[in-house]
Amino acid sequence: MSSCSSCHDKTCSAKEKQETETVAEFEQRQRLQSNLCRIKDKIVVLSGKGGVGKSTVAVNLAQTLTQKGYKVGLLDVDVHGPSVPTLLGLSGHSIRGSGDGVDPLIAGDLKVMSVGFLLQDENEAVIWRGPAKYGVIKQLLATVNWGHLDYLVVDCPPGTGDEPLATMELLGDVSGAVIVTTPQDLALCDVRRSITFCRRLSAPIYGVIENMSGFVCPHCLERIDIFKSGGSLDMTQEMGVKHLGSLPIMPEVVRAGDAGTPISQSSQHESAREAFEIVFKKLMTEIEEH
Ligand SMILES: Nc1ncnc2c1ncn2[C@@H]1O[C@H](COP(=O)(O)OP(=O)(O)OP(=O)(O)O)[C@@H](O)[C@H]1O
Ligand SMILES: [Mg+2]
Ligand SMILES: [Zn+2]
Repeated sequence: MSSCSSCHDKTCSAKEKQETETVAEFEQRQRLQSNLCRIKDKIVVLSGKGGVGKSTVAVNLAQTLTQKGYKVGLLDVDVHGPSVPTLLGLSGHSIRGSGDGVDPLIAGDLKVMSVGFLLQDENEAVIWRGPAKYGVIKQLLATVNWGHLDYLVVDCPPGTGDEPLATMELLGDVSGAVIVTTPQDLALCDVRRSITFCRRLSAPIYGVIENMSGFVCPHCLERIDIFKSGGSLDMTQEMGVKHLGSLPIMPEVVRAGDAGTPISQSSQHESAREAFEIVFKKLMTEIEEH
């Protein structure tokens, strides 16, 4: 054994450890690359603001793509508030290792992986710094046995922080981003940042979905614009991105989400399903044209 260059001690393991880590890192990088090579399109769902419906859009988009016969994976990288397990009725499920990786969970025909499946307790508060989050997202992308996928849909937490940045960097060639917003000025301001974020990272933007855009009272059919409405139209024109349509506030979306059966998969809630279909049709055109 050669001596350590830092302390010149023959028994020091620093040099040896560094070499081992490099091998481990090299292997993980190889694994990441071979995993990503099997995925045709990588779609990232983003928003500058929290609670605007990113996870709802991601889950319903993934289910819609599955229904069209595509092979689809859904990855939830929201370290502090993973919602995908709840939205798909997979809370409390844990993952199993297989070979040198882990198998995703299955919801219908959809392959699902969430940071939430790694947590012992769903009430656990995760206190991780940037590098730890980067490591977990890298590990998920490298070790999940997705197999061949037409689409991987990634549900990101709000903002332009560690998780979206790690996701974009690790995926390398993101096919496109779907940006979700609500109509009020406060959200639109944050969405401009998401657009700039994608542009800085050279990720194409499929377009913006305006969610929670007005509410039609089921009793008198009067429309109430709770968060205002249509505000994203001017913003998208100004920023030069496509507007993919609007989804109204629909109480059945909340119920379906809490029940773990996304609207797109439900046999009830026809009008809500149609609202998603119209938006996703426009989005599919963008996805297929890119
Ligand atoms: N169009 C809609 N109508 C009614 N409720 C909705 C609609 N879209 C989303 N919701 C509800 O709003 C809540 C927040 O949605 P969701 O978790 O998808 O947002 P998010 O942007 O992913 O939040 P976070 O920033 O915490 O990740 C959920 O309870 C969801 O069911
Ligand atoms: Mg979410
Ligand atoms: Zn009314």
